Amino acid sequence: MLARGWTAALEGVEAVPVSVEVDVHNGLPSLELVGLPGAGVKESKDRVRSAIRNGGWSFPPRRVTVNLAPGHVRKAGSHYDLPIALCVLLATGQVPPGREGVWAAGELALDGALRPVPGVLPFALAARRAGARHLLVPAANAGEARAVGELDVVGARSLEDAARWLAGGPPPAAGVGSAASPQGGSAAGGEGLPDGDLAEVRGQETAKRALEVAAAGGHNVLLIGPPGSGKTMLARRLAGLLPDLDAATALEVTAVHSAAGVLPPGSGLLRRPPFRSPSPGATLVALMGGGASLRPGELSLGHGGVLFLDEAARFAPAVLEALRAPLEDGEVVIARHRGSVRFPARTQLVLADNPCPCGWHGEPRGPCACRCSAAQLRQYRARLSGPLRDRLDLFLRVPRPAYADAARPQGASTRELRARVEAARARQAARGQGGLNAHLTLAELDRWAAPDRAAERRLADAWTRHGLGMRGRVRVLRVARTIADLEGSAGVREEHVLEALHYRFAGEDE
Ligand SMILES: Nc1ncnc2c1ncn2[C@@H]1O[C@H](COP(=O)(O)OP(=O)(O)OP(=O)(O)O)[C@@H](O)[C@H]1O
Ligand SMILES: [Mg+2]
Ligand SMILES: [Zn+2]
Repeated sequence: MLARGWTAALEGVEAVPVSVEVDVHNGLPSLELVGLPGAGVKESKDRVRSAIRNGGWSFPPRRVTVNLAPGHVRKAGSHYDLPIALCVLLATGQVPPGREGVWAAGELALDGALRPVPGVLPFALAARRAGARHLLVPAANAGEARAVGELDVVGARSLEDAARWLAGGPPPAAGVGSAASPQGGSAAGGEGLPDGDLAEVRGQETAKRALEVAAAGGHNVLLIGPPGSGKTMLARRLAGLLPDLDAATALEVTAVHSAAGVLPPGSGLLRRPPFRSPSPGATLVALMGGGASLRPGELSLGHGGVLFLDEAARFAPAVLEALRAPLEDGEVVIARHRGSVRFPARTQLVLADNPCPCGWHGEPRGPCACRCSAAQLRQYRARLSGPLRDRLDLFLRVPRPAYADAARPQGASTRELRARVEAARARQAARGQGGLNAHLTLAELDRWAAPDRAAERRLADAWTRHGLGMRGRVRVLRVARTIADLEGSAGVREEHVLEALHYRFAGEDE
């Protein structure tokens, strides 16, 4: 007896259809798995056997062959359990074929309970593309699968649940984790401010303004200042300034988190931009993705949001170096034996650090004068210099606040600033540009950010006096375009370019 079903294999954040065929024939009792199963998939055999027995069925005392096709696609993960078990039950006639063309994915516990698996959202996209009608998944994964739409998503808690439905029964009762919630994550609905409000930051008006500009245009930022000046506090509050994700980006972001296996159980579509802050000890693979399991890294988990590298100079030079290409291209490309895998990585980079090893370089007053040597300073700066600096738009000095600031009343709140950011984003979208200002090309800048004559003079001046180059000019114009958008100005004028130049050069050398 032969039975057939569908599932998918994860390749990066994409999934490709995989058919599951189970043939039960006479011969010595055995269970054989063919079709390039990885080591993890081979473990399916034991789980499937136990789950079937513990569900009250019998495992056939015959020769069982499971074929996962196409054979050239590498199969990894534990989600093959469910389709394999269901096909065994169908092939042995223990479950009558009630529904046809079903896609399924899920890991089985030995007692037959269904456990959530990574990649269900990409699986759902593959199923929809293939014209599938039903997708059967663990209840905890049903929310993300439903985010895809146009598919009948059935959330099951056990093999028994799944088998009953497959035989034509009603869908299992929805419970925790299978609610069709359109929101997910801790900051759902755009109301949550998980990292605090900007109003809590006293003083630091220049830095706050720069964060508003960075959020509005998607610009990369470097925050430099002495210990305790509030860099970490400020950077974390950038997250709250970002508008909710649009529908297409929300799907991409949720797909990346799903493929990485970091979506909380029961979550639906992620609506808030992610904010990732890996520790300085993060390896190249942790940051870029890849490795044996081919999971997305921090850079991709920050897609649609922010990648924050606090104490940036402590990251391995190879890690910082590797950021360059993805920052430019908006994706990470990982070469494999057979072709390459792409992860989306359109991320806004925020770096924070001290200006020198002791932390106090450039502080004019106080007891904490810098005692670093010129050589130490040079060496420290070199870590965050050159090519990486070329990819940053805003260089901010975050000084130790003056005492008067500590006693000051609170300034603008995250809510107020986000409203301004949203208005500036709407102006960018209204121009019909493909992305945010941070990604405008030179040609697009000519079209949408041509500076007026006074502004052009300021740029020429910076060219001769500060060594502004071609790349620098492009970056200054992008920021100036954002500043003009925040103001609601159609043209880029002198004051916009001046403010942008300030962010480029003021924080750089003191
Ligand atoms: N402008 C400010 N307004 C209110 N609180 C502040 C401000 N600056 C610093 N603080 C307080 O000081 C603490 C230290 O700030 P934070 O950790 O952001 O400093 P940092 O610049 O990241 O320091 P380091 O270089 O040591 O990492 C914060 O937890 C916060 O309570
Ligand atoms: Mg800090
Ligand atoms: Zn120092």
